[in-house]
Amino acid sequence: MGVTASGESVAPVPASGGWPVCERSLSAPGSTIGPVRSAPERRELLKAVYEEARGCQKCQLHRTRTTVVFGAGNADADLMFVGEAPGANEDRLGLPFVGQAGKLLEKLLGEIDLQRSDVFIANTVMCRPPQNRDPHPPELESCNGYLRQKISLIAPVMICTLGNFATKLLRADTTGISRLHGQEEVMVLGTRAVRLYPLYHPAAALYTPATLKMLRADFQRIPELLALGAPPQPAPEEEGIHFTAPPPMARATQPASDPLPRPVPLEQPVAPQLGLF
Ligand code: URA
Repeated sequence: MGVTASGESVAPVPASGGWPVCERSLSAPGSTIGPVRSAPERRELLKAVYEEARGCQKCQLHRTRTTVVFGAGNADADLMFVGEAPGANEDRLGLPFVGQAGKLLEKLLGEIDLQRSDVFIANTVMCRPPQNRDPHPPELESCNGYLRQKISLIAPVMICTLGNFATKLLRADTTGISRLHGQEEVMVLGTRAVRLYPLYHPAAALYTPATLKMLRADFQRIPELLALGAPPQPAPEEEGIHFTAPPPMARATQPASDPLPRPVPLEQPVAPQLGLF
């Protein structure tokens, strides 16, 4: 049984949509995702998830997409970003955040001495919604298992959700980004605790200077939050919980623990769409 943000018990999530845990089956019978150890092992498993995802037909978005935008970046990143959905450029190139919003994201990363190769960038859905409409609930649901696998395998210390869709999805709560942006909280996703840090979506900041100012100010705090390292992890007996969230708006109050090692640089991209560094 899992527990929602409001403290209610929820039934275990089905294997296809649940958080991968030790010895949990991937989609192919007989394959397992854990126990997850070294960065190279996790990267190989991520490649397997990518191979499965690139042919995904779980929702109607596969009919209109050009390319599955799996996500790209450092497969062993401490910091992961989750945006909303691919747009036209992303759909064409198979990479996330390659349009104007992506340029702004890169600029803001540069201002805190990070580049795309330091982080992993994904979206709530991997296929472009027609006419860039909002993703529909069944589409978010269909892609959620993939997103969970990415998060479990990359095992970031911190996840920045970009905008409402990612924030609501990962917090399993309807509170909007204007109330939550810039407020970090520790959440247990699957078996691991991460710092969740909601940010405005860069696209919302492109033409609204006040939003850009807030996004930039929130970005400036990323280094100090990363320097805290991984939050305290759940006790082993809690493993297997599918989703546990602290009360909404809970803040990270734990003392700093040892920072994790820097991301292990990975070899050449295995496929253009995966874009692993
Ligand atoms: N590009 C993406 O990949 N995701 C977004 O949310 C916006 C642009």
